[in-house]
Amino acid sequence: MMTEPGGEGATPGANAQALEDHRKIRELTGRLAQAPSLLELLRRLQELRALMAPHFREEEAPGGFFEIVSTQASRHLGAVRQLEQEHAALLSEIDGVAERARACLMGPVAEILKQAKALVRRIESHESRENELLIDALYVDVGGGD
Ligand SMILES: [Fe+2]
Repeated sequence: MMTEPGGEGATPGANAQALEDHRKIRELTGRLAQAPSLLELLRRLQELRALMAPHFREEEAPGGFFEIVSTQASRHLGAVRQLEQEHAALLSEIDGVAERARACLMGPVAEILKQAKALVRRIESHESRENELLIDALYVDVGGGD
């Protein structure tokens, strides 16, 4: 099969799609790097994965990005193979980071939040007992005084 650069057929559309996907992925990776919390990081990882998995499949599919580059410029065959191999590794890394974030949220983070709630209950009880003591001391006539 011969496809001229910039010629007719699926090539320009597939290239445009790949480039548009890359722009979206860049946007999401930027947001991922700025995640303000583990929970938000997890949400953004899921969002990124949902975009990247089908993007990778399209790049690997017949007529996709990799085939186009390999067909039109065979000197890039090695680079294409390398990039293709990285797909599975990148998805697996996303899953690994997400799994560690989830484990941290359900383990240490949940434990700290539980301790914070217990602390809140102790502070409320402490202040409430002080209030009762103050009211008792100031306003309750115990009799037998002067
Ligand atoms: Fe890509």
